[in-house]
Amino acid sequence: MANSDEQSKPSAAAAKNTPRHVAIIMDGNGRWAKNRLLPREAGHVKGIAALRQTVAAAREIGISYLTVYAFSTENWDRPQSEVLSLMGLFRRFYHADMKRLKKEDVRVRFIGQREGLDKDIAALIDQAELMTEMNAGLNFTVAFNYGAREEMVLAAQSLARDAATGRLNPSTIGENMFSHRLQTAGFPDVDLVIRPGGEKRISNFLLWQAAYAEFVFLDVLWPDFGKAHLEAALEEFAGRDRRFGRLPPEDEVEPSKDGNSERTTQQTASS
Ligand code: FPP
Repeated sequence: MANSDEQSKPSAAAAKNTPRHVAIIMDGNGRWAKNRLLPREAGHVKGIAALRQTVAAAREIGISYLTVYAFSTENWDRPQSEVLSLMGLFRRFYHADMKRLKKEDVRVRFIGQREGLDKDIAALIDQAELMTEMNAGLNFTVAFNYGAREEMVLAAQSLARDAATGRLNPSTIGENMFSHRLQTAGFPDVDLVIRPGGEKRISNFLLWQAAYAEFVFLDVLWPDFGKAHLEAALEEFAGRDRRFGRLPPEDEVEPSKDGNSERTTQQTASS
């Protein structure tokens, strides 16, 4: 991906509370093209350019995990010409970007089903993962032929298979074990979901992993998204009060032995 010529200078607010895992629903390519009387493919092409800039910006800012939604299991229902063009763009992305991503220490991974994809695309996915598996910089994950419900059903099936063969006692199944059967096993939970394009929905993306994520919805269409939008979303994230279901620290009072209320010491760094 192209190097951004801007230097990394996250705002003070964002720097003090940078999310470890940012997930982006890249939306608005079609409208971007329509606004310019261009074919939808032109929006997707510009969408890849926006993705390049975003990956570069994420590296500069020091985000550890960036996961983007490129093709959902529902996208197969689009006209065949658009599906074919997205598959073609995937091939172009591989040939244009993978060598550089490898050099830039980006670890590229894919989530989603390989079955159903053309064989050459499945092979490119394997190759991209293999050639960057030793990289330790940004963890960049592309959700391609991905649906969160399907991912969770497959995780449940894998646990059920182990239980049926006696390898697993069902009563030992907990949240951690379930997480480790997802394709994001070992990733931190999503801290921040960014959705450009004006819609305010999750669209079957990382439903388990984003259970406690903050959401930032932006009106900008994805092809126009850039470092400034990422920084604006990080700024908003930095100002959010994350509670994970708890009370804010100032309200966490409990009765003391003499009947008066006193503050608890319960306050986590991440709340
Ligand atoms: C949603 O916009 C976007 C997509 C379905 C495709 C996203 C794909 C890319 C950004 C490029 C492909 C990336 C790789 C790595 C191959 P939309 O088409 O639904 O836009 P609309 O809501 O305006 O119609």
